[in-house]
Amino acid sequence: MRPVFAQAFCRFRLYTPSRRLQNWSVDTQTIVILDFGSQYTQLIARRIREQNVFSVVLPCTAPLAAIQAYHPAGLVLSGGPSSVYDADAPAADPRVLELGVPTLGVCYGLHFIVHHMGGRVRSAAKREYGHAEVTIEDPSTPLFAGLPSSIQVWMSHGDEAEQLPQGFHRIAVTSNALAGIANEEKKIWAVQFHPEVHHTPLGPQLISNFLKICDARGDWTPARFIESTVASVREKVGAGHVICGLSGGVDSSVAAVLVHKAIGDRLTCIFVNNGVLRKNEFESVQKHLRDKLGLNIVAVDSSERFLSKLAGVTEPEKKRKIIGNEFIAVFDDEANRIAQKSGGVDWLVQGTLYPDVIESSSVKGPSQTIKSHHNVGGLPERMKLKLIEPLRDLFKDEVRRIGRDLGMPEDILGRQPFPGPGLAVRILGEVTPERVALLQSADEIVVSEIKAAGLYNKIWQSFAVLLPVMSVGVMGDQRTYAYTCAIRAVHSEDGMTADWVELPAELLKRISGRIVNEVRGINRVVYDITSKPPGTIEWE
Ligand code: XMP
Repeated sequence: MRPVFAQAFCRFRLYTPSRRLQNWSVDTQTIVILDFGSQYTQLIARRIREQNVFSVVLPCTAPLAAIQAYHPAGLVLSGGPSSVYDADAPAADPRVLELGVPTLGVCYGLHFIVHHMGGRVRSAAKREYGHAEVTIEDPSTPLFAGLPSSIQVWMSHGDEAEQLPQGFHRIAVTSNALAGIANEEKKIWAVQFHPEVHHTPLGPQLISNFLKICDARGDWTPARFIESTVASVREKVGAGHVICGLSGGVDSSVAAVLVHKAIGDRLTCIFVNNGVLRKNEFESVQKHLRDKLGLNIVAVDSSERFLSKLAGVTEPEKKRKIIGNEFIAVFDDEANRIAQKSGGVDWLVQGTLYPDVIESSSVKGPSQTIKSHHNVGGLPERMKLKLIEPLRDLFKDEVRRIGRDLGMPEDILGRQPFPGPGLAVRILGEVTPERVALLQSADEIVVSEIKAAGLYNKIWQSFAVLLPVMSVGVMGDQRTYAYTCAIRAVHSEDGMTADWVELPAELLKRISGRIVNEVRGINRVVYDITSKPPGTIEWE
């Protein structure tokens, strides 16, 4: 194979529909979003899916044939940080504009359309960033059906269309610049603002109008997803055996329940106690998933094995590596045992989500490694297993919707993310059984108080961190000399960036009072007011 052809072939395979894997019914409609690098691209996909229409994000450089392979019902061209006239400006194959498929350009997407269809884009005299008011000039265009004559929007651009391509007309303006264009005959619309963000309150209506233009039926529902995924897993696995590593988190639990629905007890889940789980977690996850949902679980208590390997280790990356390697070793042992009993194991379930899939093929490229995340990535090759990733087309909130439809308890579905290396990356310094017990008790107080205040589901993560800092205190006229505990609570959309949460002072007071009184060994509580960046969410 000539290198260029080989490269194009690989790219084609990377972007082609995962229908091959998922066996979506052939008539599932798809909106294809071409990503020009905007921080909001994933939001466009989510807003479309919220209206029960399936959407995929492809890098703008995806080959035309890969886009056509989806038989898209519509195309969205995302925003992006570049200028279309930059030498290295990201560009799609301009033939996407000739497919006759309804198309919506957003911000840079508008500039791309104007630039490639014979118009002109220039740097605007005045940048528009933030809230703006848009006046609709053409209320008859179907994109604006049902919208008032003036709408609040979110703008973020430094370029503007100076001259429209032939056949286009202006459909909206702000006091400062052009805000929307259309060529109804070619079925192309474009807006300068961002309908996908929260700050454009009528954005969902505009997106719904676009989906009507695309003739999208809105029948991509959780029930339909479950039905087609179950059918596809059954077909793929045949009479084979499958294993799954359960972490107790939302993704691996939902993935396991879906696969169990397809093949019953030919799925064996391995749940390892690595000694750094939350208080009672090892027991409660088994109770929910085995006793209530009937999963076939092999629970392995390897806490002593992990903790003895961690003894004396203080360096964060070393802790992560030890836990990751040890996990693989335990998992491998158990999988071999299962294989001997069941006459072989062929498949491994992984809870990969869509953001990971998008990131691995993004125009921006995968992000730099700040921490080595612990997962079972090395296992499939080592054990010669084939992968089943039933959630690889879903966002986190969609996984929760599917879980609800599968009858899973809120206790599991509503869980905040918990890192693979568990409490080990929240115990600074050496991880000892005593420190794990201290942190488990403090963490349980934080979580239960946040739940009692009705905030647990409104916060991305809230937890305690044990610091190796001893300080002097006084309790009941007695001098104390004990550890410090930090409280961390952050809001985040995806864990990539985060803001610290302004928890009510009364709540912080209650948490601090309870920890110091109930957890013997901690006599001081501090609150972490660092956002990400520059901090990270976990302390290690
Ligand atoms: P950081 O600390 O990097 O965390 O800001 C971002 C998000 O990722 C979670 N996290 C992990 N999840 N394995 C995981 O499965 C890991 O090794 C790991 N490290 C961090 C973290 O809890 C946060 O939600």
